[in-house]
Amino acid sequence: MSSKGSMSSKGCILATGGAGYVGTHTVVELLNEGYDVVVVDNLANATMEGLKRIEEITGKRVPAYNVNLLDTEGLKNIFSENRITCVMHFAGFKAVGKSVDIPLQYYKNNIGGTVNLLEVMNEFKVYNMIFSSSATVYGVPEKLPFVETDKTGGCTNPYGKTKFFIEEIMKDLYTADQQWNIVMLRYFNPIGAHKSGRIGESPIGIPHNLMPYISKVAAGELEFLTVYGGDYETKDGTGVRDYTHVVDLAKGHVAALKSVKNKCGLKIYNLGTGKAYSVLEMVKAFEKASGKTVKYKIAPRRAGDLPTFWSDVSLAKKELGWEAEKDLDEMCEDIWRWQCMNPGGYPSGQSKST
Ligand code: UFG
Repeated sequence: MSSKGSMSSKGCILATGGAGYVGTHTVVELLNEGYDVVVVDNLANATMEGLKRIEEITGKRVPAYNVNLLDTEGLKNIFSENRITCVMHFAGFKAVGKSVDIPLQYYKNNIGGTVNLLEVMNEFKVYNMIFSSSATVYGVPEKLPFVETDKTGGCTNPYGKTKFFIEEIMKDLYTADQQWNIVMLRYFNPIGAHKSGRIGESPIGIPHNLMPYISKVAAGELEFLTVYGGDYETKDGTGVRDYTHVVDLAKGHVAALKSVKNKCGLKIYNLGTGKAYSVLEMVKAFEKASGKTVKYKIAPRRAGDLPTFWSDVSLAKKELGWEAEKDLDEMCEDIWRWQCMNPGGYPSGQSKST
């Protein structure tokens, strides 16, 4: 799983975690835009199958390295063998609940891996970074929607804290050395799948997130959805979120890349739709897209959940020229196609959901 990347005039992007959910969708968009891409992924929470399918969709080969970001020599080798111009940093453990049980692994992997990566980038004079941050960095809202200038921190779990700490580390790095161009993209609830139905979200075991769970209920793989909380002060009592199509997110990365090339300095953008839907609205939309019934039961609230949050998306529109294009119906239709074509997710080599 390693080979040299060729160089197009547009440059070579290193995608860490490029075999994962947001990573695979972004690699497809980058290849479609004519960029060369090299992937580094230790397959801790992904499989080679995603990369094979990228090649199938785009007809382009993706050189990939099975290297842990904590492996400095392995990383240096990648930068020696490829003329990387920018890094898109998707890699990281992302299970909120698990991060509470194994915090040290989360800090070591997410923060240690990122610091290592930044050091190697510095050594190889690659100063362009696009980082997968999360709406979770905002913590408990004082007002909504979230705007990029709102205070961050106060995250309630180690996973969220790793995103917040990495943002702080990158800000300090930029303060110390303004050769860097760093774009931090705060994702709002990525859902959906590629139109081809060949790549999508492939959680291991029982999904923790809403949409993979709903799609398995619709498919008859799970009996009913547990709705965490029916007594929030929201439109129907259930939690409200800003669900964003993963292909829109992927296109947001391409837009950010153009900004990095124009030497943007340090920038932060929300990537969301600016629209907010409740759990029950998501159930209804999925029933419409799939033609199936999604049984659900209202249960107590899930610890650590916020009642409501969504994004102000005006900055990304103004500065990146990016906005989400896909609506809720399309998100649900794409998930359903992915579910029907891949009932158990990717076929082989499934791994743990650290
Ligand atoms: N929900 C249910 N039942 C489920 C799963 C989820 O009712 O089985 C509800 C949640 O309570 C919440 C909504 O559906 O109201 C969305 O939940 P998800 O788990 O899909 O997403 P979260 O908003 O909790 O989490 C997302 C990302 C995290 C990130 C977090 C905060 O998945 O990575 O946003 O930004 F940390």
